[in-house]
Amino acid sequence: MATWSAPGKVFLFGEHAVVYGKPGIAVAIRPRVFVTVRKSRNAHHAKSPYIDSCFEVMGVKGSVYISSQIPSSSGLGSSAAVTVATLSAINDEFGLKYTLDDIARTAFEIEKKVQKGRASPTDTSVSTFGGLIFISGTQRRRLPVQNFHMVIGNSLVSHSTARMVEQVAEMKRKHPEVCNPILDAIEGVTLNALHHMGDPPQLGKLMNINHALLEALGVGHSVLSRLVLASRSAGAYGAKITGAGGGGSMVALCPKHMKNRVAGAIEACEARAVITGVDTEGARKEKDV
Ligand code: MEV
Repeated sequence: MATWSAPGKVFLFGEHAVVYGKPGIAVAIRPRVFVTVRKSRNAHHAKSPYIDSCFEVMGVKGSVYISSQIPSSSGLGSSAAVTVATLSAINDEFGLKYTLDDIARTAFEIEKKVQKGRASPTDTSVSTFGGLIFISGTQRRRLPVQNFHMVIGNSLVSHSTARMVEQVAEMKRKHPEVCNPILDAIEGVTLNALHHMGDPPQLGKLMNINHALLEALGVGHSVLSRLVLASRSAGAYGAKITGAGGGGSMVALCPKHMKNRVAGAIEACEARAVITGVDTEGARKEKDV
């Protein structure tokens, strides 16, 4: 029996644009998924195309137990965390000698297959390696970890990443003259942020710009807008949609002494707030439960 966990993630900059090879910055956060795998002749596990694919790709059979602190369909990378933790636990239980790079690559291939070709390697890289990650095309770079104080607001409005990605693809197809400059501007914001990672007030301003650009792409939602505005009024440096939008979550970057106030403002909008910071660890072996 082997138990592994993997963290969730938030995009600080660049979601949707990364699908078109543009850069993005994402960070591993504390809610985690825990997966226990045990060798067995018959597969016993919850029906999930992600888990089925993990066993298929690794060519083994076993049973799985999952315990997740990350709500699904919340934009916090739960499917990538489940895939990374499951692959890691299978690798350990069956002594398959996959490296972390192999796990990240295989997890990305599985996400891409299940999401019908539309996925960036961001979620799976962040979940595998932890910390702060800059993604550009197929390149991945770990950035120095910052002591960010973040509050995540889960709108409790469920959404589908695949559908939101398709919606942006359709806008790009129908109105390239409108959509392409928005994606270019998101790229500009992300590259600018890269030079201000140690300056949270400036990062907050850039997050606000990125939020406006995501709304221009059509992936906003009235509840997310309310949470973003409430967080800014409560003292956040900046706040934006995180992930695919259309529901799911937003993230606020805060001064340390404001995080409880920001969380309170989010909860007052009848959403769920989680105060968090950067999780420097990616996939991690846990004591067997
Ligand atoms: C979803 O968390 C982020 C998107 O950019 C899709 C992806 O990167 O795979 C919308």
